Amino acid sequence: MADRHLTAAPQEALSSLREELGAFDAFGRPSEIGELRCPELPAVPVFRNQFWTSLQRRGSSLHEVSYLACFKPELPRFFLERLTEPGQVVLDPFMGRGTTLIEAALLGRVPWGKDANPLSRVMAEARLLPPTEERVAARLAEISSAGGALEEELLVFFHPLTLARIQGLRRYFLERGEENMDAVDRWIRVVALNRLTGHSAGFFSVYTMPPNQAASIHGQRRINRRRQQVPPERDVDALILRKTRTLLKTVTAEQRRRLAAAAPAARFLTGDSRSLRELPDGQVSLAVTSPPFLNVYDYARINWLRCWFCGIDPDGVGISTPSGLPAWRDLITTVLRECFRVARPGGWMAFEVGEVRKGSVRLEEHVLPCGVEAGWEPALVLINAQEFTKTSVCWGVDNNSRGTNTNRVVLMRKPGNPARLGGPDPS
Ligand SMILES: C[S@@+](CC[C@H](N)C(=O)[O-])C[C@H]1O[C@@H](n2cnc3c(N)ncnc32)[C@H](O)[C@@H]1O
Repeated sequence: MADRHLTAAPQEALSSLREELGAFDAFGRPSEIGELRCPELPAVPVFRNQFWTSLQRRGSSLHEVSYLACFKPELPRFFLERLTEPGQVVLDPFMGRGTTLIEAALLGRVPWGKDANPLSRVMAEARLLPPTEERVAARLAEISSAGGALEEELLVFFHPLTLARIQGLRRYFLERGEENMDAVDRWIRVVALNRLTGHSAGFFSVYTMPPNQAASIHGQRRINRRRQQVPPERDVDALILRKTRTLLKTVTAEQRRRLAAAAPAARFLTGDSRSLRELPDGQVSLAVTSPPFLNVYDYARINWLRCWFCGIDPDGVGISTPSGLPAWRDLITTVLRECFRVARPGGWMAFEVGEVRKGSVRLEEHVLPCGVEAGWEPALVLINAQEFTKTSVCWGVDNNSRGTNTNRVVLMRKPGNPARLGGPDPS
């Protein structure tokens, strides 16, 4: 079924995709079919079902690094398998931890991404070339723990011996610099970054907030007082090796081969995606992305410790999340315009929006007009729902009050026929 979407002419490809979604019942329920109506636009078909489930086909273990507001790999995979072929370019302009890009590379596609958060590149790039556990162990044995005088304030999180090891690793990475780091260095850095702080003995720190939101020094003092805790000593190298094993658990030799093949043409960019000037026109076959939402996001407060470890000044990171809908729509329209430019004729855009403000704002209604303004043709809306209630066809209005966990994806297409382009995507 999936192949039909790839080989058919644009209009037929869309019809066959709609047909597949309408008839979908892989998890025992038929799709609900409705419409999304936006002022001054033709109605767009909406398909609601459980289209993927993390239980059915677990995503690769390689994805298991924590990042705020990431989506599950099943989401990009659903579109990658249906709308792209190996060797084609896949984009995520809000790449986050790199879920779309890692999944694309695991499937033999070429990953291109950009994110305003410099930590995003650190997270994504390292997992494209996973080293073996033996190489990680050998490199750890070579890295000295000499990291200079202990940063006293950080002793609220770490035992002195643990902190000494963390500072040794940090100094090593900063002295190597981005240009001189190899795949093993990058891997150790991303694993260490993910083990820095958290709420179990699997992290370097004493009990604290979840790993992607660091407490302040002051806040951690309070947590320690309340819990009457003192940071215990942790074996940093052993924890890095343990997490390495977890991340590599399901990675096969064939997947390693695909990742390595994707790496030379991969692009991981840092910056504001309102401009994708680093990327050429007309190359991207599919973009799968989820934007920053409407909540105010204090980057420096949340990421200060991860930034410290990577030598990044968190105050210098300019992520300004628009707090009102008009500014959000401006951001999205501009990014979608750039995505349109870099898309090939017939290329797709799958734009996921979550449930915002307890469902009082349905962002798909706002994304669609932004996409049309940027040149995209609306194709359909797909709602992946974990649970169902008796309500049917015209759900749009009350969907979010039903306690379901949904991904809402607006699918759009660039007009034109890819067959007329000639020549394959670069790989
Ligand atoms: C919802 S998260 C994306 C998560 C991603 N789908 C994943 O699975 O990891 C949104 C991302 O947009 C990034 N971002 C916010 N504003 C941006 C902008 N103007 N340009 C590029 N990236 C931006 C944030 O840093 C964040 O990583």
